[in-house]
Amino acid sequence: MGTFAKPHLSLSVPVIIFSVAFIVLLYTETLSSTTLFDCAKPKTRPNHQHVNSSSIQGDEGGGGDDRLKSILDDRFIFDPDECNVAQGKWVYNHSFQPLYTDLSCPYLDRQVSCVKNGKPDSHYRQWEWQLHDCILPRFDARLALDKIRGKRVMFVGDSLQRGQWQSLVCLVEFLIPEDQKSMRRGKVHSVFKIKDHNATIEFYWAPFLIESNTDLKIIGDPKKRILRVDSIEKHARHWIGVDVLVFNTYVWWMTGSKLKSVWGSFTNGEDGYEELDAPVSYRIALRTWANWVDSNIDQNKTRIFFTTMSPTHQRSADWDNRGGIKCYNETEPVKKKGHWGTGSDKRIMSVVSSVMGKMKIPVTLINITQLSEYRVEAHSSIYTELGGKLLTDDQKADPFKFADCIHWCLPGVPDTWNQIFLAYL
Ligand SMILES: *[C@@H]1O[C@H](CO)[C@@H](O)[C@H](O)[C@H]1NC(C)=O
Ligand SMILES: *[C@@H]1O[C@H](CO)[C@@H](O)[C@H](O)[C@H]1NC(C)=O
Ligand SMILES: *[C@@H]1O[C@H](CO)[C@@H](O)[C@H](O)[C@H]1NC(C)=O
Ligand SMILES: *[C@@H]1O[C@H](CO)[C@@H](O)[C@H](O)[C@H]1NC(C)=O
Ligand SMILES: *[C@@H]1O[C@H](CO)[C@@H](O)[C@H](O)[C@H]1NC(C)=O
Ligand SMILES: *[C@@H]1O[C@H](CO)[C@@H](O)[C@H](O)[C@H]1NC(C)=O
Repeated sequence: MGTFAKPHLSLSVPVIIFSVAFIVLLYTETLSSTTLFDCAKPKTRPNHQHVNSSSIQGDEGGGGDDRLKSILDDRFIFDPDECNVAQGKWVYNHSFQPLYTDLSCPYLDRQVSCVKNGKPDSHYRQWEWQLHDCILPRFDARLALDKIRGKRVMFVGDSLQRGQWQSLVCLVEFLIPEDQKSMRRGKVHSVFKIKDHNATIEFYWAPFLIESNTDLKIIGDPKKRILRVDSIEKHARHWIGVDVLVFNTYVWWMTGSKLKSVWGSFTNGEDGYEELDAPVSYRIALRTWANWVDSNIDQNKTRIFFTTMSPTHQRSADWDNRGGIKCYNETEPVKKKGHWGTGSDKRIMSVVSSVMGKMKIPVTLINITQLSEYRVEAHSSIYTELGGKLLTDDQKADPFKFADCIHWCLPGVPDTWNQIFLAYL
């Protein structure tokens, strides 16, 4: 517990800036993630399939004796019941090319189009997440389109989720002819339509999942925000009938102060709030969400996913760069195995485990937290926008205030979240 006290203080400043950034974000346009709670399905013995080992290369992108490594490679083809996506390492591959760029994909927000915004290096795109025990297949756009044929896929959550949504759209859109696709963006609900597949990839904005007074018109001051921790219907009615739902919620809870939370319906309305610590308020809200899912979802028709916390990198001392300014100027992922910083709150993670563990409807967790923790260099940083405008040179010169170490560049880390999502789908 003590380890969290300090980070909260240091988080409060960035979070205010962050809220301002959100205002901008919201009005332009979302997506999500990995662990499996598979209570309903009986655990069958997976039939382990050994990969044709000659297709596996060495670890560190060339170099080394590939043939020897391939003989020694005893990893299994990805099996959701057996593979832990949190256990792996980032491997640099200079010949790896993402399926899209921020110039080729017309649907990316400027906020995440880092190279277009002037990020001088694009090495951050060249890292691949390699699991210790399993082979995580590369994202196969055709396979993804096949899997979503005739379906509605909807990402629900905050701006990190919106990033995952845009990533998925960009990972498949290049295969679809111009006259077979369309994008309609709304303040709350955005829909990318793939006509010849009768499919949609949608985003629904609900940063806390439950209702709050800051859902539509963002309130910059966290102290003025009031969360209706037992109300979800206003948002949730838009989720009915969707075939694949991917949820997230995290950063909005991390204001560093207590959260004004109300429940029950009394005539004193929002005056009857209680100020709760984030994990307490989060638990009530997530239970509300879980109860909604358990009472409204037909598990034969709908798959439910939940993306875990997307780590923030506001404190460079977390990864032993004491002279650093947040994630600014970082060029390499953190190497230390199991690195976990103050931007991922373990208390929230344990609330997620405990609430999901008790659900009737199985939820597939996309556990992105550990793998994303390493990627301090892959945030938008100063190559982003504020209030609809690119950062000015003066703002760029003040990374302590203006570097965005919460959102991720695209292409980038959220593509890996989707690689995992597709492997589970
Ligand atoms: C494995 O790869 C080798 C070399 O590419 C190929 O000759 C062989 O047919 C492959 N085996 C299987 C089972 O795919
Ligand atoms: C690196 O990427 C290239 C191009 O996609 C691929 O052919 C190669 O197998 C990859 N190397 C490793 C070590 O994964
Ligand atoms: C298209 O998908 C919707 C569900 O998303 C389904 O109700 C409808 O029957 C599908 N239409 C065709 C022609 O497959
Ligand atoms: C879901 O499918 C299973 C097996 O096909 C069936 O036994 C069960 O009644 C179905 N559940 C619902 C809610 O339709
Ligand atoms: C950031 O990196 C650039 C290029 O390496 C360097 O010139 C600059 O001094 C660095 N800034 C800080 C504050 O470390
Ligand atoms: C996600 O993975 C991390 C790292 O392995 C683990 O500590 C955490 O408990 C996992 N989260 C859940 C909800 O299972």
